[in-house]
Amino acid sequence: MYCWDSYLNERSTMKILLLGPPGGGKGTQAKFLIEKLNIPQISTGDMLREHVTKQTSLGIKAKEYMNSGALVPDEVILGMMHERLENEDCKNGYILDGFPRTIPQAVGLDKLLEKLKQALDAVIVIDVKDDNIVDRMGGRRVHMASGRVYHIIYNPPKIEGKDDETQEDLLIREDDKEETVRKRLEIYHNETSPLISHYKNQNIVSRINGELNISDVSQEIEKIINLN
Ligand code: AP5
Repeated sequence: MYCWDSYLNERSTMKILLLGPPGGGKGTQAKFLIEKLNIPQISTGDMLREHVTKQTSLGIKAKEYMNSGALVPDEVILGMMHERLENEDCKNGYILDGFPRTIPQAVGLDKLLEKLKQALDAVIVIDVKDDNIVDRMGGRRVHMASGRVYHIIYNPPKIEGKDDETQEDLLIREDDKEETVRKRLEIYHNETSPLISHYKNQNIVSRINGELNISDVSQEIEKIINLN
């Protein structure tokens, strides 16, 4: 019988890419993986939102793209990720959430990983149908400072409208309006889903049904990581 703790010690350098549509549950499952594997989540969405909040020049540039549901230009993202993946905390593995999102970003990541003498261990694709995504986004509530994500029905906070850990207010993201979500989905199908083929020849792609409930999706992910 394989012990999960010894497995973690042996595999604490895992580099995992979570791929899936907007609202597919990448952030939710990344939080589960952080607890299991004790490696950082690297979410380009969270990083960009922090820049927007701090009104950095990158944030000012990114805000308009984000609020309209468009992608931030590849060169901006690649510059930001180049810096992030060279950080000390990435030496023991990481969970990529929301990056790469286009073929040029994936090619940029390939080059960066080669330079860092690293390779991805798993690409996990979380599949959810478009109409279910639109339904989910209407109920999403976010604690902006930490990136913790809730859903008013499927994953409610202990106190309505408040973050479980800080009791600060939960907010609705600017880009969660139905019209913007539909645009983000279109971009996902056109620009991001081709990445599945990009990674297929590396034999590291697994697809899971993201329409299961949150803990069942986590279990599916756990099985994939155990098998890799
Ligand atoms: P980003 O923040 O990355 O948004 P996203 O990829 O669209 O993903 P989301 O954060 O919306 O969803 P998620 O998959 O994490 O789902 P979650 O777990 O929250 O990017 C935002 C914007 O930044 C982009 O549009 C773009 O402008 C820019 N950007 C970011 N990265 C970029 C890049 N690389 N290149 C260019 N631009 C970039 O779950 C959603 C909801 O569903 C929650 O309420 C949750 O509680 C609930 N839920 C989760 N799982 C389940 C389940 N199994 N059953 C029921 N409910 C569930």
